[in-house]
Amino acid sequence: MSRPVALVTGASSGIGLSTARLLTLSGWSVALVARSADKLQKLSAELEGSAVFVADVSELAAVRKMVSDVHQHFGRIDVLVNNAGQGYDSPIEQTDPDTFRHVFELDVMSPLVTMQAVIPIMRLQGSGSIINISSGTTLMALPNMGAYSSAKRALNGLSLTARAEVAKDHIAVSLVYPFITATDFEKNTIKQLGQTEWFGGDGHEIPPADTAEFVAEKILEAIRTGVAEVYVHEWMKPKPE
Ligand SMILES: NC(=O)c1ccc[n+]([C@@H]2O[C@H](COP(=O)([O-])OP(=O)(O)OC[C@H]3O[C@@H](n4cnc5c(N)ncnc54)[C@H](OP(=O)(O)O)[C@@H]3O)[C@@H](O)[C@H]2O)c1
Repeated sequence: MSRPVALVTGASSGIGLSTARLLTLSGWSVALVARSADKLQKLSAELEGSAVFVADVSELAAVRKMVSDVHQHFGRIDVLVNNAGQGYDSPIEQTDPDTFRHVFELDVMSPLVTMQAVIPIMRLQGSGSIINISSGTTLMALPNMGAYSSAKRALNGLSLTARAEVAKDHIAVSLVYPFITATDFEKNTIKQLGQTEWFGGDGHEIPPADTAEFVAEKILEAIRTGVAEVYVHEWMKPKPE
């Protein structure tokens, strides 16, 4: 039987890149999606069975074309990892609506439209797995993280609802909540900081960053178990009241 196919957005860097590597090692053919063609080509040369699909997934028409191209290339899509994303640090008072709209397009609308394009394919196949990458910031109220964490909270809501809607089609929709992870995320975050920093200043120490490889293992766990929510650390799990 040919290898199952996983589509990973944001595969050129960080968590997506490590996930693409781990999925390849675990037997998947991986569709590598991001804007950086050079980085994807280099990665693809390393990953057996992979193929490159250059797309700006904040453009919703590009998302639909990308999913169609992946489907045409591989003939199936078994796993979708909606991982491409970007942070935006700004106090609410100074949050720029246009910047927030951009972040919302990338962090919410893009995974929504990717799910919409992939679900009919998975339904026809009889099964599938969709993993949406959320954030530990959705479990807290951190200063300066209002826009980013509320975008990811919207993604949480869409994911849990989609999960309930497509369970009958044997499609499992799961959320993975990474905590601070050592990637280019911080460097790529749009910054419009005010007076306060999001950690520190209140006596709390910043916990050590996780590796992208560690988070990739949690994504694989979500694919294999199909559970609704995977927290990369037990202590992140919301406590019952
Ligand atoms: N690192 C953390 O501390 C952390 C914590 C919680 C959640 N997360 C989430 O984890 C996910 C992965 O982040 P990361 O830490 O791996 O960050 P990263 O190293 O900055 O990687 C982001 C990835 O997204 C892609 N991307 C960004 N904008 C894109 C666009 N418009 N179209 C297509 N691809 C785009 C980037 O590729 P190109 O630039 O090549 O397009 C890159 O591959 C994100 O959803 C992030 O919100 C990260």
